[in-house]
Amino acid sequence: MSEDSVNSGRRRFLVGATSVVGAVGAVGAAVPFIGSWNPSAKAKAAGAPVQLDLGKLEPGQMVVTEWRGKPVFVVYRTQRMLDLVQEETAVLADPDSSASEQPDYAEGPYRAIKPEFLVVLGVCTHLGCSPKYRPEVAPADLGSAWQGGFFCPCHGSRFDLSGRVYKGVPAPTNLTVPPYTYLSDNVVLIGSEEAA
Ligand code: FES
Repeated sequence: MSEDSVNSGRRRFLVGATSVVGAVGAVGAAVPFIGSWNPSAKAKAAGAPVQLDLGKLEPGQMVVTEWRGKPVFVVYRTQRMLDLVQEETAVLADPDSSASEQPDYAEGPYRAIKPEFLVVLGVCTHLGCSPKYRPEVAPADLGSAWQGGFFCPCHGSRFDLSGRVYKGVPAPTNLTVPPYTYLSDNVVLIGSEEAA
């Protein structure tokens, strides 16, 4: 299946899905879309939190779910990825995430409650396209300085593996960290900081 057809399929999910269960795929191939098993489609449309089990993610893998009609990216970061977000800050416009109102856990190099799991909205802060997850280091199309992150194909904005925006790109701020909390070691609730 071509990447275009995968992406157009995903767009259809985001627009019209009421319940979708995606198969877990390989890093860098089709990013699995994981439908939450609760709440109902009506409640989701009204903004209800969504629950996601991270237990089957592989290190380096990203899954996509949906909250309030927007894609939410969840990345299981490897230790190498965590090292990179500590080291590679010179290219970033706002490494401390001070430019936007965000939960406390959106600050710091990891921008996450648990460092290994990044949770960000998959919505470019320029004009709202969905960035692509590009975890490879120095791929030919992104250049030798690329250390992995998210690349927006619409106008070329770049974000690191913590969703922090690069200097000199159209996007003005870091990717948004939604409110969330953990219900157990592996289960995250996205859209609320309190378990119901
Ligand atoms: S919408 Fe992402 S760079 Fe313009």
